[in-house]
Amino acid sequence: MPRISYVNGRYAPHADAYVHIEDRGYQFADAVYEVCEVAKGYIVDMGGHLDRLGRSLDELRMAWPMSRAAFEIVVREVVRRNRVTNGLVYIQVSRGVAPRDFLFPAGARPSLVVTARKVNPAINAGKAEAGIKVITVPENRWDRVDIKTVGLLPNVLAKEQAKAAGAQEAWFVDTDGNVKEGGSSNAWIVTKDGVLVTRPADHGILRGITRTTLFKVAAGLGLKIEERHFSVQEAKEAREAFISSATTIAMPVIAIDDTPIANGHPGSTVLSLRQAFFDVAEKRPA
Ligand code: PDD
Repeated sequence: MPRISYVNGRYAPHADAYVHIEDRGYQFADAVYEVCEVAKGYIVDMGGHLDRLGRSLDELRMAWPMSRAAFEIVVREVVRRNRVTNGLVYIQVSRGVAPRDFLFPAGARPSLVVTARKVNPAINAGKAEAGIKVITVPENRWDRVDIKTVGLLPNVLAKEQAKAAGAQEAWFVDTDGNVKEGGSSNAWIVTKDGVLVTRPADHGILRGITRTTLFKVAAGLGLKIEERHFSVQEAKEAREAFISSATTIAMPVIAIDDTPIANGHPGSTVLSLRQAFFDVAEKRPA
C-alpha cells in the first residue's frame, strides 16, 4: 500500500507530494510544526498539539490554513489512509509560497503538509529497557524556542554530535551551566528524595505536550514535581534522569557525558511514568 500525504488540499502518493520551491518554509524556515504519537490506533494528545500549533501560529502572525475542525479531519484522515496504528503524524504549516522577500508576503496562503508513518513500538520499548545516553552542548539557539518552528539546524548539529559520541540526545546548557532541554525532547531529573525536576517552560524551552501530560501522570502516582533550573552537575548526581517527547514518551537516561546516572540502569520512577502515560494521555481514534 503506497504512503499517502496531504499537501495543500490534496491527498497525494507520498513520492509525488511537493511544495513549491519558493515556499517560505523552504527558504526562510518560516514554518511551524507538530509531531503527534500514534499508539494502538489512537492519536495521542492531539488537542494539546493543535493548541500549541495555534500558539506558534499566533506568535508568528501566521494564519491557520483551515478551520480547526477541518484540520483535525485531515490529520485523522492521513493517519487512517496510511493505516498507522503505531507511529507518528507530522504536521507543518508555512507562511506560504511567494517571491523571495524577507517581509511577510501580502495575500500568501499558508501551506499545510501532513504526513504519517508507521514505527515499530518494539524499537522504543527496547530503548526504554536499555536507557539512552546524552551529551551536553552549549545553547546556541535563538531565545524563542518556545515557538515550534522548523528552524532546527542547531538541533540537527547537536544531535549529530551526540550520535558521533555514541549518545542518542544532546542537552542544551545555558551560560549558568543549567540544563535547558534536548535537541528534540524535554529534560528531567529525579532527586535523591524522589522529586521530579524539570526546567520552567518560559521562552528558554519548548513547553512539551508530553511534559504537560507527565505532570498529570506524576500527580496520579503521588510524585512531587518542581519546575526549577538544574545544573549539569546536579543531573549527573541525580537518582534518575530522563527525557520526554511525543516520540519517546518518558525515556530513561543512563549516562550524561559518559558519567553514569546512579547505577547506570533505567530508574524505576521514569519506568512507572512511562507505564502509566497512555492511561492518562488524551486518546482520539484515528
Ligand atoms: N520534538 N523540545 C524540543 C526542542 C522538541 O523538539 C520537542 C519535540 C520537545 C518535546 O515536545 P513534545 O512533548 O510536545 O513532543 C521538546 C519532536 C518530537 C520532533 O521534533 O520530532
